Amino acid sequence: MDRNAPIGVFDSGVGGMTVAREIMRQMPEEKIVYFGDTARVPYGSKSKNTILKYSRQIVRFLMTKNVKAIVIACNTASAFALEEISKEIDIPIIGVIKPGAKVAADATHNGKIGVIGTEGTIRSGLYTKILKQFDENLEIIGKACPLFCPLVEEGMWHDSVTDEIARRYLEQLKKEEVDTLILGCTHYPLIRSTIRNIMGEGIQLVNPAYETAVSLRRILEWKDLTTEEHGNVKSQQYDFYVSDDPEKFQQFANSILPFEINKPQQINIEEF
Ligand code: DGL
Repeated sequence: MDRNAPIGVFDSGVGGMTVAREIMRQMPEEKIVYFGDTARVPYGSKSKNTILKYSRQIVRFLMTKNVKAIVIACNTASAFALEEISKEIDIPIIGVIKPGAKVAADATHNGKIGVIGTEGTIRSGLYTKILKQFDENLEIIGKACPLFCPLVEEGMWHDSVTDEIARRYLEQLKKEEVDTLILGCTHYPLIRSTIRNIMGEGIQLVNPAYETAVSLRRILEWKDLTTEEHGNVKSQQYDFYVSDDPEKFQQFANSILPFEINKPQQINIEEF
């Protein structure tokens, strides 16, 4: 395996850029090939079989780019596809759920953890299952927040409508007095301040993106797969692919990254 090969990162669309951003921050020398499945987003409301089929196609595509490891930067795809796909390929592959669950299990004091995510992520029960493996006495309260993704994609990060919807979604978690809340969807870190205002300062908000990048670095180090290249030029270091309109993706990526990305290439993912 070529240690200077890129890392493959994929998501249902733009949201996984919050995870890619964290990998770029923690491993600034690594190359990344990012695929956003913008034609088939959202994944959050789809069945396990569909997500598994989509994820397999994307993994096959990333393999054509000779990636040395893959990060499923999507909570829903991590919940529905990671386990199966990790048995089918021989390069390291990680998702965002286990790293996020680990931080939350370590962070809670009262043993009550809230998880917010897409319908699929919450329905899968995977956060609960993994949290219970860390400590079976933990009490976990899951809540699907399906309107958050479209609000984030509409740029309504600081908006009274988003505030009101968040208030309704988070009401029960507040009542239950969770002391730790996992932002179990790629988009939610972008409305962190809204969630923070509603939940209060005493709550620990866990963004799995950070810990996912930490886990990835550990795995690459352990397998001697960290790059030896230095001084890469950002525009050549990162390649972006999408299955639909590249411009919308580019705008969103540029709004959350500290540099401008090259125009993503559109591909037909159904061919893989
Ligand atoms: N990326 C998805 C996730 O983290 C959210 C968007 C979608 O529903 O596809 O679950």
